[in-house]
Amino acid sequence: MKAPDMKDVPPGDRGKDLVQRDKKIMATSTKTSELVAERAEGALVWDVDGNLYVDFTSGIGVVNTGHCHPTVVKAITEQANRLMHFAGTDFYYDIQVSLAERLAEVTPGDFAKKVFYTNSGAESVEAAIKVARWSSEKGRFIAFIGAFHGRTMGALSLTASKLQHQERFFPTMPGVDHVPYAYCYRCPYKLEYPGCGIWCADAIQELYLDKFVPPGDVAGLFFEPVQGEGGYVVPPPEFPKKVHEICKDNGILFIDDDVQAGFGRTGKMFGIEHFDIVPDILCIAKGMGSGIPVGAAIFNSELDFGVQGAHSNTYGGNLIACNATIATLDVIEKENLTERAEKLGSHMRKRLDEMKEENPIMGDNRGLGLMQATEFVTDPETKSPAPEPRNYVVEESFKNGVILLPCGASGVRYIPPLNIEEEYLDNGLDIIQRIIKEAGDIIR
Ligand SMILES: Cc1ncc(COP(=O)(O)O)c(C=O)c1O
Repeated sequence: MKAPDMKDVPPGDRGKDLVQRDKKIMATSTKTSELVAERAEGALVWDVDGNLYVDFTSGIGVVNTGHCHPTVVKAITEQANRLMHFAGTDFYYDIQVSLAERLAEVTPGDFAKKVFYTNSGAESVEAAIKVARWSSEKGRFIAFIGAFHGRTMGALSLTASKLQHQERFFPTMPGVDHVPYAYCYRCPYKLEYPGCGIWCADAIQELYLDKFVPPGDVAGLFFEPVQGEGGYVVPPPEFPKKVHEICKDNGILFIDDDVQAGFGRTGKMFGIEHFDIVPDILCIAKGMGSGIPVGAAIFNSELDFGVQGAHSNTYGGNLIACNATIATLDVIEKENLTERAEKLGSHMRKRLDEMKEENPIMGDNRGLGLMQATEFVTDPETKSPAPEPRNYVVEESFKNGVILLPCGASGVRYIPPLNIEEEYLDNGLDIIQRIIKEAGDIIR
């Protein structure tokens, strides 16, 4: 099948009508393109006007197994016919226990674990906050500048990637200190890797824990293995290792937020595995259920609440969500999707790096596996962030049949389903290549 295949410049008449109705009734959120999706299969999406797109977003890093994977659809349908909901937090059923056992096996760490099911990434982070506070009997947290952990009030207090996330929402949860992340392209300390000696990690000890953030008061440190919404920032390998060591030395729980990087996206099952770190608490969601809302906080069983009612919810461990997750794990294993993410990710990166040679507005390409991004700049020397060409690339790619999402101040992320056909991946990249060149000509 030819894809993308655009009948007209979107949105067409049906699309425009729906966008108007949406604007009247839906609360303002984070809309990017006027794409009105009707159905999807694998890496392909059809809109209500019959245009066919190649999806480089996976529903914000969710459908890693592709849209409507038949194995996942079958698992959902069969479970819906059997039993949909019975409040797994209050009663018992096989499927949530079987999935928890499997999650304990596939997540890093060879020790007894406990699983708390949630319905979103933010809720997994909220659960991690509570597990950390409960088990340590300490109240403070450390998080990173550029981090995104969600928008509910607890998670929001850890988030530090854009002003509009915080504006008018103060006060958030007290007791969170933000420290610089290893964003080497724009080092917050204006140093150069590797000559810097990874000062940004040492600074956590020397400038914070030794000066004004008493380690004895800090329950946990939240860490994204690749900063996601903050701009797909990949730290040098020494950084996470040093940060983990600092946590161990100071009795601080290392909490990995693998919500966006998880479930094969980076070429490993979980992003944190690139750094050989075993977190005390792991937060997951997005790719877990291939489109069904589901998440989890998975932690060393020694940290468990142990008291009824300290934490719970209504929908956690919903049967359809659990069966969709089991099917997702089956598909990732059977179709070797982590290896595929690695292979297609290297191919994509090679092509992006070739484009960078000819397009000075491409300041930096970075990422792991099929979690790749470009940061656009006005000039490679000054590195001034350039949101205009970034917005142009997102908008024009959409009009030409490639769905993209922004990240950071001037980044575009490329996160297609992990089982995207190579032909569609290349078709998408061909279009992006043409549009980046156009964007450069317009900016000049
Ligand atoms: C790393 C990370 N953590 C947490 C979240 C919040 O997830 P949700 O939007 O499902 O609440 C996100 C969402 O983008 C994320 O990327």
